[in-house]
Amino acid sequence: MRLKCGFTALLTQKNKQLALAAYVAVAVILWVLRVPLFGLGADQPFGEMKRIGFENLFCVGFIAGIAGLILLFGMPYGGKCIHDNLQRIGFINSAGETPLLTARYMDNTNPHIEVLEFEANGIPLTEWENKREKIEAALNIHAVKIREGESKRRILLHCVPAGNGLPKVLHWEERFLSKDSFVLVLGESLTGRVTVNLAQIPHILLGGSTGSGKSVLLKLLLMQCIQKGAVVFIADFKGGVDFPDVWHSQCEIITGEKELLNLLASLEDELEHRKHRLKDAGCPNLDTYNSRTGAALRRMVFACDEVAEVLDKTGLDKQGKELVAQIESKLSVIARQGRAFGIHLILATQRPDANILAGQIRNNLDCRVCGRADNVLSQIILDSTDAAERIPKDAQGRFLLHDGTVFQGYLFDEYTALDKGGWAYEYTANHEH
Ligand SMILES: Nc1ncnc2c1ncn2[C@@H]1O[C@H](COP(=O)(O)OP(=O)(O)O)[C@@H](O)[C@H]1O
Ligand SMILES: [Mg+2]
Repeated sequence: MRLKCGFTALLTQKNKQLALAAYVAVAVILWVLRVPLFGLGADQPFGEMKRIGFENLFCVGFIAGIAGLILLFGMPYGGKCIHDNLQRIGFINSAGETPLLTARYMDNTNPHIEVLEFEANGIPLTEWENKREKIEAALNIHAVKIREGESKRRILLHCVPAGNGLPKVLHWEERFLSKDSFVLVLGESLTGRVTVNLAQIPHILLGGSTGSGKSVLLKLLLMQCIQKGAVVFIADFKGGVDFPDVWHSQCEIITGEKELLNLLASLEDELEHRKHRLKDAGCPNLDTYNSRTGAALRRMVFACDEVAEVLDKTGLDKQGKELVAQIESKLSVIARQGRAFGIHLILATQRPDANILAGQIRNNLDCRVCGRADNVLSQIILDSTDAAERIPKDAQGRFLLHDGTVFQGYLFDEYTALDKGGWAYEYTANHEH
């Protein structure tokens, strides 16, 4: 087993190959210089006998050395310690064996991350996931990712030392703004910057209990949309406290239901209008259309900070219910068709109420982000209870992305950003509305 691991390590890791090459090089030099170095000349007493004896011994030693080296490569540093620590927390199979560390190396896509490779010894991936926190504590690491290797018997634990966890606060800086259209930056995970490309994943659903940092993240995203030249509409039914004056000059803020319905209706019209334009020009999406025809159709983003307030039908009279149903159906159309035409939804909610966000809408919001949440809310947003388990109860601005990445969202506040040079979008004449 160790030999096999050693071979794998040799085949995959540069430093091991270098070590072996160095060993062979030294052996070759010794071999070439054996006569003068070890006094094996024919003129020496018993010279010939000594030489034959030495050569035989040397060959055996050389081969044994190679075997020894490969064996050593198969026994990664710290293996015993990891074994003991896993034993201590009872991370064992039914025969009482812990997983066996077979290799450790730095991740070649990210130099901060170490990969610990285990022979799982019959412990399935789900159990690693369930005991994630215990394993992290036992090995004094943060697990960035746990996954299966090329077979189910191999588990790869991507990690960083515990001291290098995510900071509690990360301040937004202007230079973080992505230059790529239409990439929005969310924050930082242990593996680097977390982004979402609205051209590929058009809509975002944001969840989290009160105080988890939803509004801050929403504003961070909208600020970037504005800077990138999108037309932003914000439905704010909470009296405008979350969106102070600077936002009013940058985007359209909607505060009433009728107004909202009118807006969504005009977005739907715009969608139909764009559909025809793109179809006539034979373009599959907005970016292609703009670049082929020289037009400058802007992306449109509709955001709502507490979408449950808008869509909740309980206690409404017939008329009210009808209004909400219309709003819902328009949101649904945008959710289904918005991608190609550059019309996007960013919806946030804190209410763990599955009935509020109709499946039609929810299923089409494929970028899911959840902050601190209970099991129910986490289930609604991410289809799993992971956010409840992996986001600390006192965390602010800490989120879990649908792909399992935990990240710290950038802390953004509109006034500080304005003082530092502003984030407002400068309108250019060639933009159509
Ligand atoms: N990314 C962040 N980093 C650090 N602190 C944050 C972050 N986002 C929010 N906070 C803190 O949490 C508080 C609540 O954030 P807010 O976005 O209003 O939460 P929510 O909208 O989920 O109720 C903010 O006033 C701020 O102090
Ligand atoms: Mg809020």
